[in-house]
Amino acid sequence: ADLNLHEIHDFMIEVARKAADRITSATPTTGAAGSKKNSVDLVTETDQAVEKLISTSLRRKYPHFEFMGEETYKPGDKIGPAPTFILDPIDGTTNFVHRHPYVAISLGLSVNLIPTVGIVYNPFTSTLYSAIAGQGAFLNQTDRLPLTPPTPLTTLNTCLVAVEWGSDRSGPDFTVKSRTFSKLAATKEDGGAMVHGLRSFGSAALNLCAVASGNIDVYWEAGCWAWDVCAGWVILKEAGGMMVDANPGNWEPRMDERRYMAVRGGEGQKGIVEEFWGLVEGRFEVS
Ligand code: IPD
Repeated sequence: ADLNLHEIHDFMIEVARKAADRITSATPTTGAAGSKKNSVDLVTETDQAVEKLISTSLRRKYPHFEFMGEETYKPGDKIGPAPTFILDPIDGTTNFVHRHPYVAISLGLSVNLIPTVGIVYNPFTSTLYSAIAGQGAFLNQTDRLPLTPPTPLTTLNTCLVAVEWGSDRSGPDFTVKSRTFSKLAATKEDGGAMVHGLRSFGSAALNLCAVASGNIDVYWEAGCWAWDVCAGWVILKEAGGMMVDANPGNWEPRMDERRYMAVRGGEGQKGIVEEFWGLVEGRFEVS
């Protein structure tokens, strides 16, 4: 059946906005926070409550759609071709727990495994990013992204680059990250810097929106999940950005592969991807 993507998009925004108060009025403490697999993979009561709130509304209105959420995911769950809402109730849980306001509700709709509608809403700043495939990406539903015409991408040493440590702090993938990070942060043999700056803000969804906006040039991460990226991916693409694999060589990554590199819109994207891939120290396995 034909999907009314506009109606779905508007409803997704409505439910995200309604859930926002539950996040801004919460008083999380590190003590009250549960922890999933280790001491840095946090989940709070609020994550669970917000997922419940949003999934209940979505299911009531779209009973035939599938749903995948960070808090109810079970190993082995797969995204199929059917329309599927993909939700991270609080992307940036660690920030949330520490009251650092770089936090978002990340709600995407995937159709035929393609990110098709994306809503990323920061309840602390009331900033809303949204997009429907083929129809552009917007800030607060009014300003088209990117906000200013993109300048060409020339070399990595003029780029502001976002990376994330994620919650795995040991193992082979951690080694790939830390080696690559130190290379990015260092000076080159010619004495120039490898990049203008290296940032780790703590929310994959908002990082993708920053690349879509054009205020971050490149974002590279392995280890995050479909709910971290589904919504931001649509927004990125609609803003002229490009998504490739964090491992060198794959220009067409899938949502469930857990390795991503986003490059902002502008001439020279492919050159930046190739330059970055050339710096990646090893290959991610991502389990
Ligand atoms: C995490 C954040 C973080 C990224 C992790 C994600 P969560 O999501 O997006 O920036 O490094 O890979 O899992 O756990 O806060 O929802």
